[in-house]
Amino acid sequence: MDKTNYLLPLYNRLDISFVKGKKSILYDEKGKDYVDFSSGIGVNSLGYCNKKVIKTIKKQANKILHSSNIYHIKPQKECAKKIVALSTYDMQCFFCNSGAEANESAIKLARKYGNIAFNKTKYKIITIRNSFHGRTITTLKATAQDDKHKYFGPYPDGFVYADNINEAISLIDEDTVAVMIELIQGEGGVFMQDKAQVRELSKILKKNKLLLIVDEVQTGVYRSGNFLMSQHYEITPNIITLAKGLATGIPIGVMMTNLKNIFAKGDHGSTFGGNHLSTSVSNTVLNILEQYKNSGKLESNIKYFNKYIDYFIKKYPSLFLSKTGFGLMLGITLKEKVNLDEIVQLSLNYRILVLNSGTNILRFLPPLNISKKEIKIGFKRFEKIVRKLNIRKQ
Ligand SMILES: Cc1ncc(COP(=O)(O)O)c(C=O)c1O
Repeated sequence: MDKTNYLLPLYNRLDISFVKGKKSILYDEKGKDYVDFSSGIGVNSLGYCNKKVIKTIKKQANKILHSSNIYHIKPQKECAKKIVALSTYDMQCFFCNSGAEANESAIKLARKYGNIAFNKTKYKIITIRNSFHGRTITTLKATAQDDKHKYFGPYPDGFVYADNINEAISLIDEDTVAVMIELIQGEGGVFMQDKAQVRELSKILKKNKLLLIVDEVQTGVYRSGNFLMSQHYEITPNIITLAKGLATGIPIGVMMTNLKNIFAKGDHGSTFGGNHLSTSVSNTVLNILEQYKNSGKLESNIKYFNKYIDYFIKKYPSLFLSKTGFGLMLGITLKEKVNLDEIVQLSLNYRILVLNSGTNILRFLPPLNISKKEIKIGFKRFEKIVRKLNIRKQ
């Protein structure tokens, strides 16, 4: 590998480079295979080299990749229709290219609503401690983790942090326009919010004509077993953001909302957002995933994967504390003496890809269509690491 570095040193990269993949297996430069339980941090929803996705990309490349949002884009319209239908909410979509951009759009929309919907401007958005909403200046400020804010101020005003959902309710005041939450905090420890508390928050916001924004960048697109995690919570948010798994590796983001008359022409936009390539791939991905869910295969995969996680927690109580998360967005809470970075590195050495989250959570975000065989192979390798650690820690 060429060690000359032309890249800014922003990432704490593991010392490996993948050159190809097939289904849920990745291959490095030497041809060694790795079972992928991370799917590029929740992006590769259909794993690698899905035949229908390849066909769509080739077909679209032979026609048109991009025109501009100053023209109509047929696959974008189809994609919006599909997303709205799958969500079961009465919403409209705005397409962009990433989770941060989707959240930025959500914040802009909430701000405009706060400007025009009341006698007095409301602008404050309450977010939850340990949340993660993106890395632009505004979404970074929406991310309620003070240690990430150190060098980049001054920030836009108007973000208030609550320790939990109940505190968010108590912090709502006359300046508040919205509360923005992740139903499972992805980067903040795979922490799942309490359903009753979220429903209560939703009720109070609705009663006061304030907004519930749900960041489903990580939880959305069938990761929970439903198209959206919000559907499990039986809530109707005003704004939902999606990205990651929508086009299994082609950059795309969506902000969807039931506020249909707030943004006017020119208020917002994106050059690349929702172009022919990303939305035609997303249409294919969503069709495959919808069928996958309807056939019962997704639920069966979720059960199978969860069984393994439960097994490890039960069998190795000296290493593992508990399971966290839902569907195929799962975490294992490690006992204090287990080093998270070490276990991620060891997993790589044993050719299985896992992620960290928070300070002591081992995170699993496998491709949604991972096969039972791949799951079995992955956890067989994982058990070798666990045995090794278990002997050492006893
Ligand atoms: C919940 C959540 N929101 C927003 C983002 C930011 O997405 P992106 O990196 O695509 O900008 C992430 C990324 O991990 C996320 O998990």
